[in-house]
Amino acid sequence: MKEIYTLPSLPYDYGALEPYIDALTMEIHHTKHHQGYVDKLNKALSEYPSLQDKPLVELLAGLEVLPTPIQTAIRNQGGGHYNHSFFWKIMKKNGGGVPQGLVGNAIQVEFGSFEAFKERFNTAAQTVFGSGWAWLCVNGQGRLKIVTTANQDSPVMNGMAPLVGLDVWEHAYYLQYQNRRPTYIEAWWHVINWQAVEENFDYVQGSL
Ligand SMILES: [Fe+2]
Repeated sequence: MKEIYTLPSLPYDYGALEPYIDALTMEIHHTKHHQGYVDKLNKALSEYPSLQDKPLVELLAGLEVLPTPIQTAIRNQGGGHYNHSFFWKIMKKNGGGVPQGLVGNAIQVEFGSFEAFKERFNTAAQTVFGSGWAWLCVNGQGRLKIVTTANQDSPVMNGMAPLVGLDVWEHAYYLQYQNRRPTYIEAWWHVINWQAVEENFDYVQGSL
């Protein structure tokens, strides 16, 4: 099978996000779960050479025009690959704190304060039913929005550009936190990479 997509390396060690996210969770999440999405995405595309060179974001943004037999696979496995590739990059060792710069300013303008934003984001992440994600996105009108998606759906499927994404599938936290999703969410704020979020924001602003 042709390796159209490959598992990206993490920009840090598996243990880099401890004590907030444990090394074993990171390793399994990356080498088993994310690898699984990559493998199944490659398998789904293997019989569709004309789709193999298209950017993944383009496939995800236009699911309805894809051949019916692979729509679900691209949605779930392509979404999984896209979301996880995004997720690894917006975390880092010794992250956290309060966002500065343009994105910090935009958060203040839209939500009133960073604390108010964080509270709303936490509520969104905590109330995702079952498996899914919480996101801070820029919508088509250039406004910041907190949204959630089910399973491996991605905001790019709805014309939004993600700035921040938090994986709240149980596989992201269960080994360390068991059923305590709110504790995982609170811990995760210590590893968010605001510099990467700022870069995402710059990129989106440049393409609006
Ligand atoms: Fe995940």
